[in-house]
Amino acid sequence: GLPGYVKIVEVGPRDGLQNEKIIVPTDIKIEFINKLSQTGLSVIEVTSFVSSRWVPQMADHTEVMKGIHRYPGVRYPVLTPNLQGFHRAVAAGATEISVFGAASESFSKKNINCSIEESMEKFEEVIKSARHMGIPVRGYVSCALGCPYEGNIKPQKVTEVSKRLYSMGCYEISLGDTIGVGTPGSMKRMLESVMKEIPPGALAVHCHDTYGQALANILTALQMGINVVDSAVSGLGGCPYAKGASGNVATEDLIYMLNGLGLNTGVNLYKVMEAGDFICRAVNKTTNSKVAQASFSV
Ligand code: HMG
Ligand code: MG
Repeated sequence: GLPGYVKIVEVGPRDGLQNEKIIVPTDIKIEFINKLSQTGLSVIEVTSFVSSRWVPQMADHTEVMKGIHRYPGVRYPVLTPNLQGFHRAVAAGATEISVFGAASESFSKKNINCSIEESMEKFEEVIKSARHMGIPVRGYVSCALGCPYEGNIKPQKVTEVSKRLYSMGCYEISLGDTIGVGTPGSMKRMLESVMKEIPPGALAVHCHDTYGQALANILTALQMGINVVDSAVSGLGGCPYAKGASGNVATEDLIYMLNGLGLNTGVNLYKVMEAGDFICRAVNKTTNSKVAQASFSV
């Protein structure tokens, strides 16, 4: 059966903006995050402590982290690929972090410049330091349903990497369909494998919508007992190291579906649409959210 409550992890300020060519001014990012904080969302991924040479849009991570208003009841995780990023994140005031690995060797190399094995060694250091400070760590596994360089990825490989991150101490594993090629069929096969090793309560899905399958894939995951879903307002997003990948599932569309299923999210759809409208104007884009398109055209 379906879960009663679904936790939405809003990744718009990070995944949503990281691929935008034009640098969004820091004060706009801060205002965007503050607006999202007032929608009822309980988790908002703020930024990435990565190299500004690799991802120029995230160069202002410290200013953004320090500049946002932190609302009670909202958590503000950031991405940290290694100890250097971790220390900078903590110095900027981060109290939650995510490490991000991949189930594809080629993607790992392109995205974080090291093999899966090397990445696990870096993550282990980060997780150890974080645990020492009482900082919760989430773990991403990219290419869970396919890789831009290797094509199909075996569910067994996704399971292996997920299990490794989970046993190192990640409290939640977010399974990323980085390039949005998955279908309910491949999602089901992948989850069946991963769920042999990790309880559904410690899993999340992170669906990009390149092939228009994201909502169907998410519904499949919900039906299998997963109740944490990543999304980005307005359907923004993409990974600079996954060419051709389009945006994340739109938070508005996700909420609309969850509302229709009678599942509680605690998030106000109208306020999310307002935050989406704000950021789309700022980056001069039209929304990718079908729900926002339908609502604003009335
Ligand atoms: P590297 O070049 O291998 O790092 O980069 P290095 O350790 O060899 O150091 C080289 C230089 O980078 C040094 O500077 C370091 O100080 C610096 P230099 O001495 O040459 O001036 N450096 C850093 N600077 C800032 N922050 C750091 C850091 N670490 C080293 N943390 C690195 C390795 C991981 C940093 C690089 O490859 C990188 O920044 N990659 C970007 C990865 C990224 O942000 N990708 C997008 C997010 S992942 C994603 O979108 C997928 C997801 O959404 C899920 C899904 O959809 O599947 C999460
Ligand atoms: Mg992503």
